[in-house]
Amino acid sequence: MPLVTTEEILRKANDEGYAVGAFNVENMEMVRAVIKACEEMNAPGILQTTPSTVKYADLDMYVAMVSAEAKKADVPIALHLDHGSSFELAMQALRSGYTSIMIDGSKLEIDENIKLSKSVADACRPSRIPVEAELGKVGGKEDDMSCDDPGYTEVDDAVRFVKETGVSSLAVAIGTAHGIYKGVPKLDVDRLSEIKKVVSIPLVLHGASGVPDDAVRECIKRGISKVNFATELRIAFSDGLKEYLQENPDTFDPKKYCTAGSSKVTELVKAKIRVCGSENKA
Ligand code: 13P
Repeated sequence: MPLVTTEEILRKANDEGYAVGAFNVENMEMVRAVIKACEEMNAPGILQTTPSTVKYADLDMYVAMVSAEAKKADVPIALHLDHGSSFELAMQALRSGYTSIMIDGSKLEIDENIKLSKSVADACRPSRIPVEAELGKVGGKEDDMSCDDPGYTEVDDAVRFVKETGVSSLAVAIGTAHGIYKGVPKLDVDRLSEIKKVVSIPLVLHGASGVPDDAVRECIKRGISKVNFATELRIAFSDGLKEYLQENPDTFDPKKYCTAGSSKVTELVKAKIRVCGSENKA
């Protein structure tokens, strides 16, 4: 089917108490692997790309690949710009055909973050493309983005932020971090419950790679509707390739080792769909 927006799939998740996995993809093999997993699980899916990913190929390339695969699939698929780093990049993604946009002003002071997020939400509204914003700072490092100075989302700030920006979903900082964790992350789930009580739009959990499954489930129980997984997919794809090349050192056919990487991604994404509770929710 044609790409859908995250508005449709996240509203349903929010209403029914499960979450939709949002999976970062880097190449054609990962795109196909994620959509295959969604189809096998009869689950909705969000494929997303960071600014460094759209520098690696470009926005049009990801729109073409994801639309082509989504068209053949029977489950709803959205294409999301993850961590949109500027108004200009958000508008380029909108014009290219992304069906969901994140603007990440979380490093700015709240007034500036509101101004930037509102400007993107206003610009996307006529096209009915939903906008995710972030309040508080998710720590860690992913691609070339890093945050050494994480900060939790304040409940009162979240109410003001949502009201003044008009965004469609909100990424909250409750103790997760992007990238690989050194220890077990300690999540402030009570803060999440407090935010959920006063914010009605879908809430997003970033930095879910390495968060134990039970902790992800607890966050969903307390109100998370979208869970972002990136690092674990990159590791799965790379591990599949490495294993294949180790066992078949003389191979020179990318189709062979890329297929090994894709299979690992599909298995991982299916497991994450189970954790999110979105199996059979297409
Ligand atoms: P991880 O790399 O920790 O899975 O984080 C993903 C993410 O939040 C993408 O925005």
